[in-house]
Amino acid sequence: MTSVAAPTVVHTRAPGKINVFLAVGDLQDDGYHELATAYQAVSLYEDVRARASDTFSVRFSGGIDVSGVPVDGSNLAIRAARLLASTTGYRGGVALSIEKNVPVAGGMGGGSADAAATLLACDALWGTGLSRDDLLHLSAELGADVPFAFAGGTAIGTGRGDELSPALAKGSFQWVLALADFGLSTPTVYHELDEHRRRHSGDISPVRQPVVDAGVLQALRAGDPGMLADSMHNDLQAPALHLEPGLSDVLELGERNGALAGVVSGSGPTVAFLAPDLDGALELQIALSAARLSVVRATGPVHGARIVGD
Ligand code: C5P
Repeated sequence: MTSVAAPTVVHTRAPGKINVFLAVGDLQDDGYHELATAYQAVSLYEDVRARASDTFSVRFSGGIDVSGVPVDGSNLAIRAARLLASTTGYRGGVALSIEKNVPVAGGMGGGSADAAATLLACDALWGTGLSRDDLLHLSAELGADVPFAFAGGTAIGTGRGDELSPALAKGSFQWVLALADFGLSTPTVYHELDEHRRRHSGDISPVRQPVVDAGVLQALRAGDPGMLADSMHNDLQAPALHLEPGLSDVLELGERNGALAGVVSGSGPTVAFLAPDLDGALELQIALSAARLSVVRATGPVHGARIVGD
């Protein structure tokens, strides 16, 4: 009988996301808002390498500024590894190296991708043998966006955003992402939305059960960027623009330079522009770079967390 040696290093990858539609309902007793969102995973990845260790540690590399990211026990990847260890009774630790490509505090779920890729990496490294469904279930304990980083593709999120149902999607969409040189705190953006609703409670209709617009589902099903551009929406965009008024100029610049539409991704500040096709995306990338914005191109949808064979 041959025995399979435990791997010394496991390499996994999970994607960042864009919320092509995000409707926010009321604040619930648990401090979260009820959401209805359409997620698309895009080709900006977090690469996690996990090595056996007696302790838990994380270090970062890549082109993204990680100065604001903690590397102690509050780091989401370390919390993911510890959660898997405590759930399975595993007694060792892990040394994590994360190559970051998704902006920090950018509204694209970079920390969530770290957590999703870490769960998968540690499960393989430690031989704890959980199923993909078990890991998906566990991921919801780490944050509202973590299950989607694990699942990838295109999906509708309800509840906190963590109750996923797959959405039919055809073809590939071309995105140009304008990255900010600052971050926005997700709780602050939600709080700003609540405050705005409170201030204007007399003149805006009360929030009802949030739902994803039928036009979004139709556009994703048809793989039609023009149709998707017409129905993209994010309730967190107004509070993000209120906190960072300069983002309005970024949105305007993209739309003047060939974007079908732009939307603040998640709680921002990344602005995601939908281009009509690859040529349009390249032209837009050049125009925004010429205006000294930091820009990357991405396509979506892409797969969720997976093991990479080196
Ligand atoms: O789950 P996650 O850690 O990503 O959420 C960060 C914060 O964003 C929450 O503590 C909450 O303030 C806010 N949030 C929310 N409603 C959601 C998701 C996030 O209010 N559905």
